[in-house]
Amino acid sequence: MRDLKSIQLEYHQKPLEQDQLNPTPWGQLSQWFDDLEKEDVSYPNAAVLSTTNNENFPSSRVILVKEFDESGLVFFTDYESRKGQEILLNPQVSLLFFWKELDRQVRIQGKIEKISRKKSEAYFNSRPFGSQVSAYSSYQSKQVSKEELESKVQENSQAFKDQVPCPERWGGYLISFENAEFWQGRPSRLHDRFFYEREGEIWKISRLSP
Ligand SMILES: Cc1cc2nc3c(=O)[nH]c(=O)nc-3n(C[C@H](O)[C@H](O)[C@H](O)COP(=O)(O)O)c2cc1C
Repeated sequence: MRDLKSIQLEYHQKPLEQDQLNPTPWGQLSQWFDDLEKEDVSYPNAAVLSTTNNENFPSSRVILVKEFDESGLVFFTDYESRKGQEILLNPQVSLLFFWKELDRQVRIQGKIEKISRKKSEAYFNSRPFGSQVSAYSSYQSKQVSKEELESKVQENSQAFKDQVPCPERWGGYLISFENAEFWQGRPSRLHDRFFYEREGEIWKISRLSP
């Protein structure tokens, strides 16, 4: 076995205090994005999305969250990809952010649904031509040869001069906040963890043992 036990981490960040928490998970996430803007963090909006297949096997992959508010968090993808197929089977997903520069993690569980066609098209149209051609040419998660992919990209780059139509199979998903946990790494593993869960109209916040 490759021994990784000698990798030792120590956490030096300030504590996360319950009385400083925002009353909603999207508000707290927004506060943490304010902090991220002050740091040099690569891919701050990258998150791990986990879905499950028909045998309840989870699978995870990184996606980029493009926006969020009280209705949930939005990312874009190919609806016919593996994740898209798994979402059809089980629309309950998990999303995880990890920012090593701040020793912070956020876990979210939520229900997922497609956003409107109009919003997906608006975002697709705002993307660079190269990204549009790639999305149009690539049937995400299907087997493909490099030659086939490259020739499709070449063909579509010529067919569409500067605007590619948004493929039907491409668009955004919205993940609602069902619950969320905010984790702040602290010295000697006495990490601060706060769990948000819905209690009627309000969010109940509990401290969890590290
Ligand atoms: C930094 C990073 C950002 C990514 N962003 C996205 C994204 O926003 N949407 C997406 O469909 N795939 C994104 N991917 C690729 C996915 O991780 C994954 O390979 C792809 O979506 C296919 O996953 P699936 O076969 O499980 O559907 C990203 C990968 C990385 C490493």
